[in-house]
Amino acid sequence: MQAARLLQIEQLRIMLVDDETSVREALSEILSRRGWRVSGFGNAEEAINALRHEHFDAVLADINMPGIGGMDFLRMAKESAPAVPVIMITGYPSIDLAVEAIKFGAVDFLPKPFKADELEIIVRKAVRNAGNEAGRPVDKTRAIGTLPELARKRLEDKIKELSILHTISESLDDVNEKEDIFRKTMDIAQIIADSERAFVLVAEHDTNELVVRGEAGYESGPSIAGMKLSTKDEPFREVISTKSYAYFASGGGALGSLLPGPGSVPVLLAPLVINREVVVILGLAGKTGGKELTNDALSLLLNLTAKAALKLENIALSENIFLSIIAAMNSLLNALDARDTYTKDHSHRVTQYAVKIARAMGCPQDVIDSISFAGPLHDIGKIGVRDDILLKAGNFTVEEREVMKSHVVRGEEILRPLNLLNSEKAVVLYHHERWDGSGYPMGLAGCEIPLVARIFSVADTFDAMTSTRPYRRALGIDVARDEITRCKGTQFDPEVVNAFLESEILKA
Ligand SMILES: [Fe+2]
Repeated sequence: MQAARLLQIEQLRIMLVDDETSVREALSEILSRRGWRVSGFGNAEEAINALRHEHFDAVLADINMPGIGGMDFLRMAKESAPAVPVIMITGYPSIDLAVEAIKFGAVDFLPKPFKADELEIIVRKAVRNAGNEAGRPVDKTRAIGTLPELARKRLEDKIKELSILHTISESLDDVNEKEDIFRKTMDIAQIIADSERAFVLVAEHDTNELVVRGEAGYESGPSIAGMKLSTKDEPFREVISTKSYAYFASGGGALGSLLPGPGSVPVLLAPLVINREVVVILGLAGKTGGKELTNDALSLLLNLTAKAALKLENIALSENIFLSIIAAMNSLLNALDARDTYTKDHSHRVTQYAVKIARAMGCPQDVIDSISFAGPLHDIGKIGVRDDILLKAGNFTVEEREVMKSHVVRGEEILRPLNLLNSEKAVVLYHHERWDGSGYPMGLAGCEIPLVARIFSVADTFDAMTSTRPYRRALGIDVARDEITRCKGTQFDPEVVNAFLESEILKA
């Protein structure tokens, strides 16, 4: 099956006006790849001079340039060559800028950073529209700031497009799970393209497979979720190797398994690229007999996939950072374990007990997550306690006891750069507070002590009593249970003790 591109290749002559050589080179390379002839200008004066004497099909001009700025250049270009469409390059597209530039005759914007596909579509659209307008008389009123009908239409379209772009950004801003990004991307894409079905294929390059991780519009038929396809089959191979979208008048071949049912429909495959690698392919299938995808819709879809790819990249980065933090924390725990073998196993056991108590209390998942994450680190501050105190078998002096007590504050200080959640910090800082206010470091009482710390206090004490320490053997579970029950309402939160007594811990 051959991929039918939306527009035919033709020879165009493009003028580039940007004071930055690197931008001119980047744009020039992309445009030349399309077989177009490109002339670059580093300043507006030379460009205006060339525009007066040579033919160009379209002009791309930076808004921010020293000397004659982009807006003045635009005004002069429209006076010198009114029929040549001018596209403004900007890092900050906004409605104000759209009004200003379109008022002076610009036809579109090219937002930085550039995306090759989008650049091609914008230039083609500008040239095609200029061709359509060629027979009309030139409207001299633009230059004095009024809005003729065509410019007004352009402005309305641009505002609509910016508003859709804004919606795309906002919708993707508040999602942080991959599955949510897939779902929202499909939802927005279906609205933009007015498509009947959408699917998300995740590339697994190790196994050369594409796995369906999202589907929309398949409610009435069989689900395709989890279906596996080969990255080597067309048309996927082409999308992955060119890293560019592909549009098919009818979805046959390997696409057939994703699009059950009779009839052939147009299909768009748009890649999400991270680090120059296609990681996801968004697929959209139109309605039988539906309209062909417009260039405007395609441009918005490419913007959407670029935003979604950026969002996925951020998630991957956060996950990496998170894994690095966990690895660093485990190194710290290992360092502590090498000095005090009791602490590490104790920390993991206490965390498990605390999770069981939290579950028995019906705590929400975020409380359980805080306990699970911060629990193993709750005694990390002991890394700052000298060996002769840390390893001492009881009978602390007053001063030594104060040093031991300082481990909660030291622990919070060690973890501070990690910007932990308050509930995670509370596990470390407050796990030695007591219900009656006689604990440390703050002497908080009752519900002043965060719930996670009240839970941790019971779990910590239970484990301390039931494990063997350098200075005494482990106590029996019954003894520990009775002691915790005795301290209900003094050392411990009565509700936490009740949950502890009903929890899985004592049923083991
Ligand atoms: Fe502790």
